[in-house]
Amino acid sequence: MLLPTGGRKEPMTEQAPTIVAEDGQTVFGGLTYFAQQWSAVGAPIGPVLVLAGPGAGKTRCLIGRIRYLVEAIGAPPDRICAVTFTNKAAEEIAGRLRRDMGATAEHPWLGTIHGLCLDLLRPFAKTIGLPPGFGVADETH
Ligand SMILES: Nc1ncnc2c1ncn2[C@@H]1O[C@H](COP(=O)(O)OP(=O)(O)OP(=O)(O)O)[C@@H](O)[C@H]1O
Ligand SMILES: [Mg+2]
Repeated sequence: MLLPTGGRKEPMTEQAPTIVAEDGQTVFGGLTYFAQQWSAVGAPIGPVLVLAGPGAGKTRCLIGRIRYLVEAIGAPPDRICAVTFTNKAAEEIAGRLRRDMGATAEHPWLGTIHGLCLDLLRPFAKTIGLPPGFGVADETH
């Protein structure tokens, strides 16, 4: 997750409320987080590595972190870039973001590493001698 410097909105005066539930989980934005998840979700701005086994709640952390940056810190969503390796993972995160943040909320750039590179390259199509709408061939081509 990338948060370039600059362009940040004024911090929100009212922080998104966090509540510690009876079972020790933190409630933020209507969802619960275990202590270890919350240490990633609510960490100060900077790199965070989440290392956990299958089904442990990694994606919930990632989505919680995006929401925390936007809803608690006041980061503009268009300054956040969420990159996955597979389309399947990008689609899963997009669906969960829509569900958790609402379909009408402004969402961060989200896609695969390949999609990100394509977006970065496309404005330079002419320079590298390709038509503006160039596509990428995969094994189906
Ligand atoms: N703190 C929590 N409280 C309640 N449910 C949780 C919590 N954390 C995760 N879950 C639920 O557990 C399930 C697995 O979470 P999640 O998809 O985030 O895990 P993951 O580590 O990304 O899994 P995978 O390895 O399959 O990618 C989801 O249904 C999620 O909503
Ligand atoms: Mg996951």
